[in-house]
Amino acid sequence: MTDSRIAKAQLGTGGPEVGVQGLGCMGMSFAYGPTDADEARATLERALELGVTHYDTADVYGQGDNEEFLAPFFRAHRDEVVIATKFAMTIPPDEPTKRIIRNDPPYIRQAVEASLKRLGVEVIDLYYMHRRDVNVPIEETVGAMAELVREGKVKQLGLSEVTGGELRAAQTVHPIAAVQSEWSLFSRDIEAGVVPAARELGVTLVPYSPLGRGFLTGSFTNADTELTAGDFRRQQPRFTGDNAAANAALLEPIRAVAKAHDASAGQIALAWVHQQASVHDLPVVPIPGTRRRTRIEENTAATRIVLSEDDLGVLDGIAAQVSGNRYADMTFVSAGRE
Ligand SMILES: NC(=O)c1ccc[n+]([C@@H]2O[C@H](COP(=O)([O-])OP(=O)(O)OC[C@H]3O[C@@H](n4cnc5c(N)ncnc54)[C@H](OP(=O)(O)O)[C@@H]3O)[C@@H](O)[C@H]2O)c1
Repeated sequence: MTDSRIAKAQLGTGGPEVGVQGLGCMGMSFAYGPTDADEARATLERALELGVTHYDTADVYGQGDNEEFLAPFFRAHRDEVVIATKFAMTIPPDEPTKRIIRNDPPYIRQAVEASLKRLGVEVIDLYYMHRRDVNVPIEETVGAMAELVREGKVKQLGLSEVTGGELRAAQTVHPIAAVQSEWSLFSRDIEAGVVPAARELGVTLVPYSPLGRGFLTGSFTNADTELTAGDFRRQQPRFTGDNAAANAALLEPIRAVAKAHDASAGQIALAWVHQQASVHDLPVVPIPGTRRRTRIEENTAATRIVLSEDDLGVLDGIAAQVSGNRYADMTFVSAGRE
């Protein structure tokens, strides 16, 4: 019998080994419409059986609900899992599409205490700054995060959606284990500045939304008409209106590669992200999100697909043809500040 557990990769220089694919848990409480909590819990357990040991959440996902939802699973498997969570963002209750970003030291201290309490653990394995508040020097933010490491509240530090320059400045204050940024067949802007900086500094890349928030699987083709009213993807330009129709046509070459590998389009999208580790010579640990057991099986199986040079030739050209930005306000992500 072959071992169905996935391979491992290192999370930051000197950091722990984790399954080469992590699990994004955001959709279990936030952003992507109604959830079946029992199936989501079963998905967490199945993921662990398959060798997924790195679980990603954030305080803003469901305004603390996601951390609380995950807490029993984390406590039951504390020695087997690497818990990643994030601070920096809040959503005003009366303005659900707005984001308030804070990176100042007093806020960080308050946020970490709240996350530790909700998670019900003594220490967070990987603590990320979720978004950059440009009014606070990054050295000051990372200095406050480093204090949490010294106090034993946090083991490793991460940054999400920083530029290459911001990553270099941060690393002068404290080692950064991971950068979490959007990276997929549709979103390749980080390859210009962030990926080279991460490789040079020994930082692991944690690609989020590697399935293009589900669009690359073909599970929806138009957010306006197919997704529920509060679904976050309805705010993203590339999934709505004429952009969505144009982008759905870009799935055809992915399906052709998938057919040749007897795989799904989603698996090819994931295999492409995994393969960027050898293309760019750095550790890459994507965190596709799912709330369903069948999909965690499908997604982890994609770690075993090896794409040929011809496949990469077909797939590599897709991102340049995508219509619409990945966020409505691009200053919210690194590409808007590079
Ligand atoms: N740092 C940041 O700013 C940031 C931003 C976004 C996300 N994240 C993190 O990254 C994680 C992953 O990103 P994401 O969830 O936005 O996007 P994603 O992983 O690209 O896609 C998730 C979507 O794809 C669907 N899906 C998953 N596997 C599938 C399969 N095999 N077939 C068909 N559909 C499938 C999921 O639905 P089901 O759940 O129903 O299966 C969900 O709607 C999040 O959970 C979160 O932890 C971080």
